[in-house]
Amino acid sequence: MEKYAIMGGQPLRGEVEIGGAKNAALAILAAAVMTDEPVVIENVPDVRDTNVLLKAMENIGVMIDRSERHTVKMNSSQICDCIIDDEYMKKIRASYYMIGALLGKYKKAEVPLPGGCNIGIRAIDQHIKGFKALGAEVRIAHGSIIAEAKELRGSHIFMDKVSVGATINIMMAATMATGKTIIENVAKEPHVVDLANFLNSMGANIKGAGTDVIRIKGVEKLHRTEYAIIPDQIEAGTFMMAAAASRGDVTVKNVIPKHLECITAKLLEIGCRVEEYDDAVRVIADKAISSTQIKTLPYPGFPTDMQPQMTVALGLAHGTSIVTESIFDNRFKYVDELMRMGASIKVEGNTAIITGVEKYTGARITAPDLRAGAALVLAALVAEGETVIEDIKYIERGYEDFEKKLQGLGARIEKIDSDRDLKKFRFRIAQ
Ligand code: UD1
Repeated sequence: MEKYAIMGGQPLRGEVEIGGAKNAALAILAAAVMTDEPVVIENVPDVRDTNVLLKAMENIGVMIDRSERHTVKMNSSQICDCIIDDEYMKKIRASYYMIGALLGKYKKAEVPLPGGCNIGIRAIDQHIKGFKALGAEVRIAHGSIIAEAKELRGSHIFMDKVSVGATINIMMAATMATGKTIIENVAKEPHVVDLANFLNSMGANIKGAGTDVIRIKGVEKLHRTEYAIIPDQIEAGTFMMAAAASRGDVTVKNVIPKHLECITAKLLEIGCRVEEYDDAVRVIADKAISSTQIKTLPYPGFPTDMQPQMTVALGLAHGTSIVTESIFDNRFKYVDELMRMGASIKVEGNTAIITGVEKYTGARITAPDLRAGAALVLAALVAEGETVIEDIKYIERGYEDFEKKLQGLGARIEKIDSDRDLKKFRFRIAQ
């Protein structure tokens, strides 16, 4: 099992290039099956989640050419099956986007109930509510969601909860329904907007993505397109936070600064300097971090996917910070690991009370999920001494070449597979 070996204590400095947004890619790749014509998608991150989804799509007959690392060429005219295999669904939750896509195009889909990161209960009632409102019959049998419709009809849907996944899934199905659909109280995340733009580039008629209400006029067919995915807000935010935690100076390139405003605002609040350029942000942390209060919220609020990274930075701030997690109910599991590195954090329900400490110390720890895993890497980078992080497969779900990008910023991090590799790492560090 691969691990990261990290020797901490180095402020990160330099430039890092951000890849395409994983969460946008998952939605867009799924939506691309909705046309029989060829589709070219650029800026697809080469991470485990997108790769697993592509395998699941190949398995139902989608032809995929990935001769260039970040470009996917697809043809979905030969789809032979609307049943996604359980093997893929267990690995990534987002294969449930195939329900919206297949239901929209073929009026039927069978997808096993999702797995994904273990960060709390992740209901799908809003997805099901939306599909039913469009006229589908939805049932759960043998561990799968089975959705079928003679015809999908436009509808007026009010979401009881702001859900990224449900917004995306319903938007896809409604794109090929008859008539008009209005979805209220939708998610406004950048990748919801990116998916709408992608579907529109294939001939869909979607308005309002990025606001609280999405209006869709159903179309009968979608056509070929070439499309480039937006940069990854969370990957960018993770490197911004790495600069803050390590008291470094990092220019994060190929980003949309507007998508990062919720993160930038908090970095300014805790005493970092942030310079914004057209497609880059520079974070300079030349003095001690100060404490703050944060509550995770749907976009444009502070993202839950940045909560662990922010907590790691605040663990080193002067004073007491309070972080409230309002999206997921079990997203502080990594705190135990962080406390083994010397953090002083008390978790009460969905709130973490963080008393800043002077330093973290290296330890042998385990990545509990994707974003918490990345956050623990940041903790290790600033810790005194050596850290070994196990289960980095979670981190690789969403970060492409994470250790290489960090090495480019001066971090002492290597992927290792054995005790022998660890000894070699120590030897190199000692040189
Ligand atoms: C997506 C992101 C994930 C991010 C999350 C919140 C992808 C692939 N994943 O996850 O990285 O952390 O948004 O920004 O884009 N809920 C219900 N009923 C539903 C659906 C959701 O109660 O039918 C609840 C969930 O349990 C959760 C909250 O709504 O508490 C938000 O979930 P949602 O926005 O759907 O997250 P995901 O789409 O799963």
